[in-house]
Amino acid sequence: MSSRFDELRVFTGNGNPQLANEISRHLNIPMGDVTIKTFPNDNIFVRLNESVREKDVFVIQSLGLPLSNNIMELLIMLDTCRRSSAGRVTAVIPYYAYGRTDKRDQPRVPITARLLADMIQVAGAERIITIDLHAGQIQGFFSIPVDELSAMSLLVRDFAARNWDDAVVVSPDLGFAKRARNFAEQLGTPLAIVEKRRIQQLDRDKSLSRVEALSLIGDVEGRRCILVDDEILTGGSIIEAADLLMAKGAREVYAAVVHAVLAGNAIERLKSSAICELVTTDTLYRPDNNPEWEGLRVLSIAQLLAEVIQRIHSGISVGSIFMHRNLLWGKHS
Ligand code: R5P
Repeated sequence: MSSRFDELRVFTGNGNPQLANEISRHLNIPMGDVTIKTFPNDNIFVRLNESVREKDVFVIQSLGLPLSNNIMELLIMLDTCRRSSAGRVTAVIPYYAYGRTDKRDQPRVPITARLLADMIQVAGAERIITIDLHAGQIQGFFSIPVDELSAMSLLVRDFAARNWDDAVVVSPDLGFAKRARNFAEQLGTPLAIVEKRRIQQLDRDKSLSRVEALSLIGDVEGRRCILVDDEILTGGSIIEAADLLMAKGAREVYAAVVHAVLAGNAIERLKSSAICELVTTDTLYRPDNNPEWEGLRVLSIAQLLAEVIQRIHSGISVGSIFMHRNLLWGKHS
């Protein structure tokens, strides 16, 4: 298919090179040649070892750990591409960080998700491709086109193939209930919701303290529960929710989560939790950073991202692939 740009090129930072290499394999083009070095003073140096003049450049960088380093690498790579006369620069950010800092919900706090969007645009991105933002409204922090894809249907299909007749989808909090309901509808199961509430109680010394109370809306007794969330960080929320489900008589508990940040000893905690399997995607997952756990199943979004990149390069609709295949819940044009 023809494109208004000479050539499609993809480059990756150190955010998730395995995923980026898979994407370039699906695109059938070699990964762009770039040198990224960190000096002893932590300054990052980037040099493109090939010309990008008038080319359609996609910079792939997931914003997992080490976060600040990955952000700086992305910004510097975007700046490098723009200053090297790329025809167009697209930032492919499979996991967008700071998504939870998207509003001023207490005095004297920042909106870091917006700050990050501003920095990415100032650095030179002319469009964004991302997957399952923590809140869809973050799209509006950008004044450039954002193709937000969803990997939820990949997770749905994985569970649908198991043909369980006793499954129930569970949202781990009220905030995720709408997306969990979509998941349950696609899978054809009922929905339950864990309600997490902060309550105040008097301590022994009569001082007030806040504790979290979990309650369940819906019925899970004797059922296989699928806890669905957009991200898992320490695992705390999902492990607590799983304990509640088991206490309410669930048969087994599974988790389906798009972004596996898995900070600190999250895998160790999950291994010894009530969750028998975590199904996730490779937006962040780096096998070299995570210890083995046979309950971890990682689905790749590389083919999907490659197809979207190819379509954007060729100037054809991204939305139509989702409509035809009912593949993902897209929010794009
Ligand atoms: C919260 O709103 C998110 O959807 C996740 O539930 C949260 O980020 C998970 O964090 P953790 O794994 O540390 O409990």
